[in-house]
Amino acid sequence: MNLANDAPLRPIDWIGGLDGYVDLIDQTLLPVEFKCLECRDVETIHDAICRLAVRGAPAIGVAAAMGVVLGVRWVDAANRDAFLGQVDRVCDYLGGTRPTARNLFWALDRMRNCARSRGDENIGEVRAALLTEARAIRDEDAAMCRAIGDTGQSLIPDGGAVLTHCNAGALATAEYGTALALMYRAHELGKRFTVYVDETRPLLQGSRLTAWELRRAGIDVVLICDNMAGHVMRTRGVDVVVTGADRIAANGDAANKIGTYGVAVLAKAHGIPFHVAAPSTTFDMGIVTGADIPIEERSPDEIRRGFGALTAPEDVPTYCPAFDVTPADLIRSIITERGIIEPVSSRTVADCVGAAGA
Ligand code: MRU
Repeated sequence: MNLANDAPLRPIDWIGGLDGYVDLIDQTLLPVEFKCLECRDVETIHDAICRLAVRGAPAIGVAAAMGVVLGVRWVDAANRDAFLGQVDRVCDYLGGTRPTARNLFWALDRMRNCARSRGDENIGEVRAALLTEARAIRDEDAAMCRAIGDTGQSLIPDGGAVLTHCNAGALATAEYGTALALMYRAHELGKRFTVYVDETRPLLQGSRLTAWELRRAGIDVVLICDNMAGHVMRTRGVDVVVTGADRIAANGDAANKIGTYGVAVLAKAHGIPFHVAAPSTTFDMGIVTGADIPIEERSPDEIRRGFGALTAPEDVPTYCPAFDVTPADLIRSIITERGIIEPVSSRTVADCVGAAGA
């Protein structure tokens, strides 16, 4: 992977042919170290997703698709049915990693369907087709992010201030990002603006990743703690809030990193438009409202001893949801690669992404 400072930030790629490997930027090391992790088996991908070495719903989907290839490429199947059984087992294994990320399940379904649709081909050809499919998922995600940037950049005011939460940038996708795509595109078009970046407790994706990648692109960043957002909106002026999403229900309710809901409530209280940027692959049209979106809970130690330092009584009870749901009525618009959904309702969501979704 090209880690030069002026190279496009592509957090995940497949290097070589079927005997190659998945190369991913180890996001747990940023911003201290900018290093890649070579993954040559599905267990390493599974572990990388669980411990957030690769994270962000679209990037998780790409990693999982490539993980399927790693998990079945050398399997010694007696016949096609046995091979398809192994594809299913690997998909189930990877599907157990991050329950909220819709793109994970979307990508795994696509890999299963790819294997099943190759009825007349021998197992070697199906393996090759799976690699082609995983690469296509990566490339398509990159194209969707570019389209989101083109479509949404007009929401970024020249000379204004934007606030974002967590990391919905290049690192969270195949490249370019979703929420940050708007900012990258506006910056490329010559607009100048400031981005207030919530640090995003407890794993600090805002400070470790968003602040790092926006500064790498030359965009003006001001890092704030999560509990400063209301004060900043009130005293410094924020023109627009943009976040990503991990899963969007059919009515437009959007799950994103824990704390996003609070930011949306604050934005409403201050009359600031709150926008979500996400590809069609993040929509789950099988879920009617956000109440049914599964919310991942993570280890108590992410709160009690974040990054190794004990910051609470060792055995204090905790509650550690990784995501929350912002109701559609707090969302001014959802920017997708297919256009902008505004106002956000079951009808406008279905008009944009289709009744069955991506
Ligand atoms: O737990 P994470 O870091 O995977 O959570 C990521 C987010 O919540 C992002 O905002 C979301 O995936 C959108 S990414 C384009």
